Amino acid sequence: MNITTQILRGMDQQQLAQLIEEQSISPDLELLKAARSIRDDVYGRKVYFRGLIEISNYCKNNCYYCGIRRDNRQVSRYRLTKEQILHCCQVGHSLGFHTFVLQGGEDPWFTAKRVADVVSAIKKEFPDCAVTLSLGEKEEDEYRAYREAGADRYLLRHETATPAHYRHLHPAEMSIDHRKQCLWALKRLGFQVGAGVMVGSPGQTAKELAQDLLFLKELEPHMVGIGPFIPHKDTPFRDEPAGSIPQTILMLALTRILLPHVLLPATTALGTLDPMGREKGMDAGANVVMPNLSPTDVRQLYTLYDGKLSTGEEAAEGLKALTQRILAAGYQPDFSRGDYKA
Ligand code: 5AD
Repeated sequence: MNITTQILRGMDQQQLAQLIEEQSISPDLELLKAARSIRDDVYGRKVYFRGLIEISNYCKNNCYYCGIRRDNRQVSRYRLTKEQILHCCQVGHSLGFHTFVLQGGEDPWFTAKRVADVVSAIKKEFPDCAVTLSLGEKEEDEYRAYREAGADRYLLRHETATPAHYRHLHPAEMSIDHRKQCLWALKRLGFQVGAGVMVGSPGQTAKELAQDLLFLKELEPHMVGIGPFIPHKDTPFRDEPAGSIPQTILMLALTRILLPHVLLPATTALGTLDPMGREKGMDAGANVVMPNLSPTDVRQLYTLYDGKLSTGEEAAEGLKALTQRILAAGYQPDFSRGDYKA
């Protein structure tokens, strides 16, 4: 099959769902090639590095898939101090990073004031760096405070755009409407915004994935995080099968084709499930990697899913090896801020 990108961009939900169904086992090589060449046209062969700092594994939410959900009593909880976070940034900066991603569960201890205080301290010490936050759903005023403190970007995966499927993945107190409202608010406030999904989450079909693509087209985010669902042993979804690598690759390629300018990570989950996951992701149009800068002693506590990589090439200490692999795959590791190219 050889579908032009123009046709793909005009597809409705039914057509996208059919294409996803047909290609989930083995994505069309022409389609991957089209995704790559679109990425090359916009960003060249650069792969941008982001330093990930997992600031807290406390979470008030109880998402059925996530290892740090509120009801998981097996996790020992931690939160980093401002000094620890700044120290991670110092280490990262000396390694060459110019983006720091502060990610955490929805931890009420991290009030707007505390987060703003950390963000302004980072921006003051590292004015040449971008700060990305990934701290979940907040009120618009709180997002505004982050922005005023200097935060540049915000990651909030929508997880699934379909209300019924969203309810299947989350307890009743959460809703896709609120999640979407947050994403629109973040856009209004001028953040570079990231949305995204898990591929192969329980109950998901090609129809849901098609809906996700249409939602992404409507939102026009600057970043899209896509990784396979991987079960975690202490969650209600412990016995569910993991998402598939080819289907994840297909979703990456389709996202690149529908949103040519998007910054698209080859995610940790993809690297966890497949040793060649990152390379496969880049060959489907991905152009970002996010090595872990968290203090080594807390890394195994931020376990969203079983087997999550946090050492080796996934870690700041494995940077040389990761850089080598990216070069070997024919890409250029890039440590600049790597902002969205409009
Ligand atoms: N498998 C894969 N990804 C997961 N996430 C959370 N739990 C899992 C899991 N079991 C993803 C969610 C979240 C992001 C930080 O990690 O998509 O938005």
